[in-house]
Amino acid sequence: MTKRVGIFVSGGGSNMRALVEDMTGAHPARAAVVVSNNADSGGIAWAQSQGIATEVIDHRPFGADRPAFEAAITAALAPYALDLICLAGFMRVLTEGFVAPWAGRMLNIHPSLLPKYKGLHTHARALEAGDKEHGCTVHLVTPALDDGPILGQARVPVLAGDTPDDLAARVLKQEHRLYPAVLRRFASGEASPLLL
Ligand code: GAR
Repeated sequence: MTKRVGIFVSGGGSNMRALVEDMTGAHPARAAVVVSNNADSGGIAWAQSQGIATEVIDHRPFGADRPAFEAAITAALAPYALDLICLAGFMRVLTEGFVAPWAGRMLNIHPSLLPKYKGLHTHARALEAGDKEHGCTVHLVTPALDDGPILGQARVPVLAGDTPDDLAARVLKQEHRLYPAVLRRFASGEASPLLL
């Protein structure tokens, strides 16, 4: 049966778009809803333009009460009967209370070759370290930040004179190849790492 996917975005949503655009024809999954903590997310506007259901849950009224924010997300998701969640540039940390019930069913894309550079500013950190190679990782989400079994990685070279923005753009292109390819495999039951 076709898997129902919820995609979480905070910003521009280019990874979400790459996933949605791949979920056609015989693909084993479809986007059921796009969720954001940010009403101004370009991802929300694009999803609406495609006729995809959207849910916006602003984190700000909840302040430091992450469990209450997450309870609001859980309530909003209920009608969609999701099989999988894909975090795609979702910039809020999710606590164990939210993550645990989705164990093995929630994916994330992170702009580094994990386990290197968990957290933020990954491109600047790779440059500062003098790395010759950088990239992106899709992994299953566990309560520890940017941890969990790796489902796929794509590599890019670091070139002389690269700025963090140059590197981010080169990595993002690979994210758009990697995430759809991993989701397609994962939704059909294949969890061995894909190395691009
Ligand atoms: C992507 O590079 C993604 O890997 C990164 O944010 C960007 C979102 O771009 N995610 C993280 O840093 C997660 N901690 P997008 O909104 O255009 O997909």
